[in-house]
Amino acid sequence: MKLIIDTDPGIDDAMAYFYAHAHPDIDLVALTTVFGNVTTDDATRNALWLTQMSKARTEVYQGSDKPLQIVPNRPSDHVHGPHGFGDVQTDMTEPPEPAGDAVDFLLRMARENPGVFTICAIGPLTNIAKAVTADPDFIGNLKRLVIMGGSLDAGGNITPHAEANFWNDPHAADIVLNAPGGGEVVVVGLDVTTKIAFVPQDFADLANAAPETGAFLQQIGDFYMRFYQTVSGKLHCYLHDPAAVVACDTPAHFSVKDVRLGVVTSGEAVGQMVRRSDGEGRLCKVCIDVDAQAVVDQFKQYTALNP
Ligand code: BDR
Ligand code: CA
Repeated sequence: MKLIIDTDPGIDDAMAYFYAHAHPDIDLVALTTVFGNVTTDDATRNALWLTQMSKARTEVYQGSDKPLQIVPNRPSDHVHGPHGFGDVQTDMTEPPEPAGDAVDFLLRMARENPGVFTICAIGPLTNIAKAVTADPDFIGNLKRLVIMGGSLDAGGNITPHAEANFWNDPHAADIVLNAPGGGEVVVVGLDVTTKIAFVPQDFADLANAAPETGAFLQQIGDFYMRFYQTVSGKLHCYLHDPAAVVACDTPAHFSVKDVRLGVVTSGEAVGQMVRRSDGEGRLCKVCIDVDAQAVVDQFKQYTALNP
């Protein structure tokens, strides 16, 4: 599978990256960056650092640095650290340059390779919304668009109503979920990702199996779990972004339902994903249940193939 990950790394974004990078059946062609957990400059630097650290051929393209329309952006330092990877510094002595503009790259790849690319969007949907607006055939030219974001019935994680990726650019999320044309859109939201817990022993197992990558993930994972502990009292975290990448290569782990969706763009519930009752809009495949243990096991199995 040829995969592009649109990402705001981000601790669980880094976990998703290492899974995709090591998976023998995934050709991770590019990372396109977006603001969200961090600024776009930090997201791009972190993406370049990840690809450099793992000696990957994966290219990095820099994307949007703000939402389509301004909404109050809440810093997520307490979740992902001041620059995205907890308290790990990602300074590079000779940082490489990104390969180009993310939206131009996404548009070109879809147009020139119809039916080939899966895009897994694990940050705010700003880049994808721009691509959809510029080319109504954009999603139809993909193999599949898999989105980590939203929540159908599970409530929010950044507000009582909204999931963080959709909250960070609700207008973009609304555009993408209602994009015209064909193609398949799969939504991997909090309804399933909050069933997939990762615990200290899981990070220890990875550190054992893949000493270099696993030690890095264990360190940033510790920061991430300590945030969850302040919220739930439990020292664990959720595999939000990794679950979306697993859904790209193994949809069978998830139960889906076809639903027409919208996203609230103003007021108290801004960022909330809602069912449309007017019969309009695209039918999206929303994940409503998951074999959580299978996702955890598969994530560990392939991520452990890293050095
Ligand atoms: C999503 O928000 C970000 O904090 C995570 O990286 C993930 O993409 C979960 O709501
Ligand atoms: Ca993310």
